[in-house]
Amino acid sequence: MRKKIVAGNWKMNKTFSEAETLITEIADSLDDVDLKDAEVILCPPSLYLEMTTDVAFESNFKVGAQNIYPEDAGAFTGEISPLMLKELNVAYCIIGHSERRKYFHETNEFLLRKVDSLLKHGLRPIFCCGEVLPEREASRHFEVVKSQVEESLFHLSAEAFLNVVIAYEPVWAIGTGVTATKEQAQEMHAYIRGLISARYDETTAWETSILYGGSCNGKNARELFSQPDVDGGLIGGASLNSVEFVQIATSF
Ligand code: PGA
Repeated sequence: MRKKIVAGNWKMNKTFSEAETLITEIADSLDDVDLKDAEVILCPPSLYLEMTTDVAFESNFKVGAQNIYPEDAGAFTGEISPLMLKELNVAYCIIGHSERRKYFHETNEFLLRKVDSLLKHGLRPIFCCGEVLPEREASRHFEVVKSQVEESLFHLSAEAFLNVVIAYEPVWAIGTGVTATKEQAQEMHAYIRGLISARYDETTAWETSILYGGSCNGKNARELFSQPDVDGGLIGGASLNSVEFVQIATSF
């Protein structure tokens, strides 16, 4: 049975002391709620990963990074490797976020290397895909998502693919307050699951968690998560508030 997941992508937010407060608040709140087998993942800035994994050790959440460089070690000033994250007990890493595709020019080919590098060390990629507004307006959204998924993930064996979590994040919905409708989300999630089924098999498709991201919040999470192919969310802005984030995590 595939996992229900709510992951918080903090992006480049919170000072060290603010992060400490938020992690503690979330950990305390999660102790008091019934997650119904859903997995909660916090993805803070890399500087706070050690502090987060320390708290996670005695709490009900897992930890993810926001980025890696696809080498184990070497002359890559400013970067961090999956090998470093592994020793910190970081379990997941967001890959292919639209902000990294846009501002850091990350291509599908480069993301393939990141996916391989994470899987080599037993970390699970949360692979983001999604179209920009002009692509949706030109009815190219399926084609765009197909090439993102195919070019970065479909070289994997079925066994390796089972470690990947997919996050569909229409770029026009990220940080805009314009959420995809439940029908738009369901339609794309079912399409992605169909691609996985065609490339691998029905079991692999059935087992893959596909999250929705893009202005998902405490008000709309339950409706989105009630869709048959929406297995949870990748949450940006609303993950910076402990009350709202825990509300989303209990929206299944
Ligand atoms: P948002 O961001 O929830 O603030 O729209 C989601 C994301 O970028 O992962």
